[in-house]
Amino acid sequence: MVKDTIDPLTLQYEFARRYFQEFLSSREHLTLHLKPSRTPVLLLDLQGIKSRYLEIKYHFPQFRVYYAVKANDHLEVLKLLADLGSGFEVASSEELRRVMSLGVKPERVISSNPIKPLEFIDYAYGQGVNRFVVDSFTEVDKLSRVAPRSRVYVRLVVPNEGSDWPLSKKFGVDVDTALEVLLYAQDKGLVPYGLTFHVGSQCNNFRNWLIGIKKASELWQKAKLKGLRLQMLNIGGGLPVKYTYEALRIEDIAYYVRGLLQKFMPSLPHELQIEPGRGVVGDQGLMVCRVIGKAKRGEENWLYIDTGVFNGLAEALGGIRYPFYVEREGELREWTVGGVSCDSMDVVARKVALPEPEVGDYLYILSSGAYTTVYAAEFNGFSKPEVRAL
Ligand SMILES: Cc1ncc(COP(=O)(O)O)c(C=O)c1O
Repeated sequence: MVKDTIDPLTLQYEFARRYFQEFLSSREHLTLHLKPSRTPVLLLDLQGIKSRYLEIKYHFPQFRVYYAVKANDHLEVLKLLADLGSGFEVASSEELRRVMSLGVKPERVISSNPIKPLEFIDYAYGQGVNRFVVDSFTEVDKLSRVAPRSRVYVRLVVPNEGSDWPLSKKFGVDVDTALEVLLYAQDKGLVPYGLTFHVGSQCNNFRNWLIGIKKASELWQKAKLKGLRLQMLNIGGGLPVKYTYEALRIEDIAYYVRGLLQKFMPSLPHELQIEPGRGVVGDQGLMVCRVIGKAKRGEENWLYIDTGVFNGLAEALGGIRYPFYVEREGELREWTVGGVSCDSMDVVARKVALPEPEVGDYLYILSSGAYTTVYAAEFNGFSKPEVRAL
């Protein structure tokens, strides 16, 4: 008899298995590193990161790319992007130091962190960085004191629905407040330079870009009527990558954004910026870890691995679902994947389809290039993953 439905466990695991095989088929140089003697290890494919960066450049030709360093600040990644001519978006003195240690000039750096420590502003300004985001009057006051005459761009709030990692609640202002902030900045001797928004990280909803660009256009016109000559529009990050589902394609987002700009901002801003993080590195990382234990608790099958939410997989707490793969055959079961620490919050995923592994087996976590090692701590004394950029 022919089955007319595919069992959801098979569907899920087949997706991960195919993804694993496809990922490695074009990355032979990583295969030598699939069984390291110590785990966890994050393998990063530098050639893949280069391709992603060039793909974004290709589809957003009018935009200057500022890589969001927070996504992955590994020096090899930063060096690669610096050599390719990328700009950088930094939030802290340490991120700036890392970028500048590679010889990157301050003109290639912006800071889109809306609430910045004074020490950071002071340090960045002293190094020659002079473009900062604002979304409050207090931030304008701080900048006018510590970074006089610098250029400021204001962050608008936009919906983050359909983004796996929403960012809209903490930052951003409405159009009228944004205008007031820019006018206030001008009064304080700063240069109103432009505006930005963030559609939410891992954004799979075109509508967020629609609202963002509509609001940007409204602010642009209102600013003009007040005599402000804005130059720059920054559309933030949000470009999604594949996790347990296929994400929107960069070329489709770029096509859509181009159409929106033609419609709502026909005389294009002098400068267009995009600051992707996840979209550059997210699907270019493979975390190699090992199974350290198994247990049956009630009806639940638990699998424990030697990494967790405190040392690399923090985003699992907030909605990112990684694909998992083990080199075993056999009947699929549904697993709850627990992290290495003693904390009961340290659960990496639930309802994961996998054939049963043994303790000591390698377990592979795909799409783990962004927001993993940068978040990692050494809670309970467990090490952060070693990073191998290859
Ligand atoms: C201000 C800013 N820009 C850019 C990014 C990068 O976003 P993504 O990784 O979604 O591309 C972030 C992410 O938190 C951000 O806060």
